[in-house]
Amino acid sequence: MELKRLSLKYFRNYGALAFEPGPGVNLLLGSNAQGKTNLLEAIYYLSTFSSPRTHMDSELVQWGEPSFYLQGSFQIKGNPLLLEVGYDSSQARKEIRLNRKILQQAAAVGTVNTVLFTPEDLYLVKGYPQVRRQFLDREIVQVNPRYGQCLSRYTKILRQRNRLLRDAAAASRRAAPPVDVWDLQMADMAAYILFARKEYVKKLSLLARLQHRKLTAGREDLHLSYASSLEKLQEEVEFSRDIIREHFLAALKEREAEERRRGVTLVGPHRDDLNICINQRQARTYGSQGQQRTSVLSLKLAQVELIFGERGNYPLLLLDDVFSELDRERQRSLLGLIRGRVQTFISGTGDALVKEKTLQEGTFYHISEGRAYPWKS
Ligand SMILES: Nc1ncnc2c1ncn2[C@@H]1O[C@H](COP(=O)(O)OP(=O)(O)O)[C@@H](O)[C@H]1O
Ligand SMILES: [Mg+2]
Repeated sequence: MELKRLSLKYFRNYGALAFEPGPGVNLLLGSNAQGKTNLLEAIYYLSTFSSPRTHMDSELVQWGEPSFYLQGSFQIKGNPLLLEVGYDSSQARKEIRLNRKILQQAAAVGTVNTVLFTPEDLYLVKGYPQVRRQFLDREIVQVNPRYGQCLSRYTKILRQRNRLLRDAAAASRRAAPPVDVWDLQMADMAAYILFARKEYVKKLSLLARLQHRKLTAGREDLHLSYASSLEKLQEEVEFSRDIIREHFLAALKEREAEERRRGVTLVGPHRDDLNICINQRQARTYGSQGQQRTSVLSLKLAQVELIFGERGNYPLLLLDDVFSELDRERQRSLLGLIRGRVQTFISGTGDALVKEKTLQEGTFYHISEGRAYPWKS
């Protein structure tokens, strides 16, 4: 897929921008705080309708303005596609249009696919489980829109269930209200989520392993596995959704007394994690900084391939301030993968990127104070 034209209105520090990227590698260059990340954020927003930096859409609206508007013209499998999104702060209302027709967010997510790689992605390896769960959720939604609906339903039920458990923990044992009214519904959602996550991790692991082999000249074996709070799901075995559901209900029963005492739901997708191992050891604990960085790159490249496999189309690749951090060899592997296939947006400061021989075929832009200019060296 290719972004042909992008318009921004009152989005972050862009008052009005019309931007026409090139088909291959696009370089967004400029000093700090000029709007490079904001531009990548706008492209990302058109694929997920959420920002990678904040949950508050109102933060994206230019200060002092009531609303923002984004419009992207894409070419997908030879067909033109117009995607628009407007957000109004005063009503906290978002409106999405695909080819001029209003569409619900859940249905619009993943129409356009992106893979974003930022310096913070190192926390995918180093950070708390929550970072990895969020990564899985965001990525699965892009290839499976139904997943997002199940996840928000699950989160709602979980909140209600936890409230009941807290009340139960506070009340005397005899007066404790039942919580299992939620359990059946919750089990349906949990089974859907867990099944999708396990499947996704299995596919991603195979692809990431291949990428990592290439990046390390065969020295390192990268392996991803889903670490579930449901002990029964730990092994590398295939489970049907029904079986997962049974295991989930059984686990709730088993932990009931403890949950009532502690006032919180102790098993389920919200307690799970993604294991990232290099040569059979947790990269989070035992990996060097360099190994952790390479694992993240392998993951990102694997995502690009996974989206191609699932959608028959390469995503847009957004590299925010990470390209110049990669050594020559990794830069070359990355460009080798994307060249001629993946429209890519690379942001960075300074002349280093301009001089970079590997990037000579790219289209260069100078980003300054919320405007994009053709690069003049
Ligand atoms: N809602 C907003 N309205 C106006 N300006 C904003 C808004 N949010 C962020 N900015 C400004 O955008 C700039 C940062 O842009 P960013 O794209 O992150 O910079 P960089 O080019 O370093 O990636 C900052 O100057 C910040 O003040
Ligand atoms: Mg930036």
